[in-house]
Amino acid sequence: MPTPRLRPALLTLAVALVIPACERAPAPGPLPTRWAAPLKLAPLTFFQGHCANCHGAYGKDYDPDSPTNTDAPKLQQMLREMAAAHAAETPLDDNDLAVQKSFHLAAVARRPFLAITNHTWPEPGEITGEATPGSQVELISAPARVSIPLHGHTFTIDAKALAQVRAQVTDEQWLQTKIVATKGSVQARITLASENFSASPDAPGH
Ligand code: HEC
Repeated sequence: MPTPRLRPALLTLAVALVIPACERAPAPGPLPTRWAAPLKLAPLTFFQGHCANCHGAYGKDYDPDSPTNTDAPKLQQMLREMAAAHAAETPLDDNDLAVQKSFHLAAVARRPFLAITNHTWPEPGEITGEATPGSQVELISAPARVSIPLHGHTFTIDAKALAQVRAQVTDEQWLQTKIVATKGSVQARITLASENFSASPDAPGH
């Protein structure tokens, strides 16, 4: 007779499902349990490896006035076709394409671009990322900020720099921690709790 034996098992399952739900509900803490997940594919390394030989280092030979730049579906399609033709061994998923699109729009608008490619957790950990060469990269959690050296297009924010900033700010300020890349008078920004690359406006110049 299977039924009587099943009942205690089902009861245990029900209890197991209900208790964690009750424990989770009342405690929405003010801090992220971790930063936003890093990108799976390092976008500038990908571009330099597969696209720069025809479009120039970091897209410097792209035409800033091409109509493709303001036609989002066309641009998406070009990126998809170019990636399939020139980087078939590294297939790009929709998120990778969105990141490449953002980088393309930053490149043609001569804006800096930022991406987070890895981090360790729990804090203070270490964060690695990419930024357009020639930008000044900073970790900012107002009022604290620390300058991060850029090597080519990659940077590492080590545990010491993170701890230095963390020690100077409140929980609320830490929650808003940003990485900022400044080139000339233009900035790219990432809020670590919610973003892993700098989004560009669809039409450059906004
Ligand atoms: C072998 C040379 C070559 C490589 C490598 C290459 N492209 Fe292209 N790409 C072209 C040419 C030529 C065009 C313009 C002709 C056309 O419209 O098909 C173009 C056009 C584009 C455009 C449209 C530009 C515009 O202003 O209309 C984008 C975006 C683009 N490529 C992205 C990429 C990306 C991303 C990669 C790397 C995955 C890449 N390309 C690799 C040659 C290349």
